[in-house]
Amino acid sequence: MRTKLIITLFTLIVSLPTNVIGKDHSKKFHPGALWPDNKGIHINAHGGGILYYKRTYYWFGEYKSDTTSAAMVGVTCYSSKNLLDWTNRGVALSVSDDENSDIAKGCVLERPKVVYNQKTKKFVMWFHLELKGNGYSAARYGVATSNVVTGPYHFLCSGRVNPNVYPINFSKDDSISIRNQYSNLISLKWWTPEWYDAIKKGLFMFRDLPGGQMARDQTIFVDDDNKAYHIYSSEDNLTLQVAELSDDYTSHTGKYARIAPSNMNEAPAIFKKDGIYWMITSGCTGWDPNEARMFMARHIMGPWTQLPNPCIGAESKITFGGQSTYILRVEGKKNAYIFMADIWRPKHPSDARYIWLPIDFKAGRPVIQWRSEWQLDYLNK
Ligand code: GAL
Repeated sequence: MRTKLIITLFTLIVSLPTNVIGKDHSKKFHPGALWPDNKGIHINAHGGGILYYKRTYYWFGEYKSDTTSAAMVGVTCYSSKNLLDWTNRGVALSVSDDENSDIAKGCVLERPKVVYNQKTKKFVMWFHLELKGNGYSAARYGVATSNVVTGPYHFLCSGRVNPNVYPINFSKDDSISIRNQYSNLISLKWWTPEWYDAIKKGLFMFRDLPGGQMARDQTIFVDDDNKAYHIYSSEDNLTLQVAELSDDYTSHTGKYARIAPSNMNEAPAIFKKDGIYWMITSGCTGWDPNEARMFMARHIMGPWTQLPNPCIGAESKITFGGQSTYILRVEGKKNAYIFMADIWRPKHPSDARYIWLPIDFKAGRPVIQWRSEWQLDYLNK
């Protein structure tokens, strides 16, 4: 009887798909290396983010061409059960052949992030959009939705954030003083101490009030209470902002706050652990890597406090050659987070690489260390 049971159990285990019994978990992450998909082709989903839905991870990112960083295809989607083996699920959001579309082929469409809205049962994609032929001057967010996780996503709208609304962490006195001095301050020479001071006090936020706040590098964070937030580089990349989203996640509510004014942060990636929000960002050096920054807060709207660079060891001053894009919480494990970054290759954009590294916690603070290879089991400890 016992032998029969053992044989049955054994047969059951070997007949299970490999991703369920965990064979693939013995495989390793190789940060910075080529990462082949199910067809053996290097994954093309840059500046991406991950959505966990119905026991599957979906990776959405920018499709990069061989010779240009402009969006010639759109946002791609890959799926995986084990975070190592990824199946190409095709283009989730296509750029448009209509030259008049906001997302015309050749626009800049970066850092897409997809979240699932439990109320509407829709998948909502947010991204940074620059209109075709206008460099980086539009500084808009874009939104697309789908009833199916892998798409096709339908473009909904693009724009700037919360026109004519002041941030919540800006006093009436501040607004009176900036209004009275506006014409003097706006003509200040850039990068001078007086100019920095004016930026801190909200000069560019005030300048952009009529049309709405600029929105470039971005991420979306869904909190435990299902409220979602858009976190983006604003005010000419000098100041981050965090804006609350509507219940259906497709627009802003008007409630937003400024973070680290004049500190020049890009590439925000955020996670929450034990009631604390942690945010990792980069400085502003375009495609070139720089030193990561870290912030923490007890409330998503702030105040946010800056802490030292979370990266340690060799190459930590240039984030191991990469730039943050997302922090992934690994399902089914406690305190398991993966830091995701991009090693950009502007001369050969499709060859850009991915850095995925486990986040350690030392004295309660996130710490990231380079590993040329590592296994998911590392996060069990
Ligand atoms: C980076 C940004 C990227 C892309 C690039 C363009 O700083 O994080 O998403 O916009 O600049 O130069």
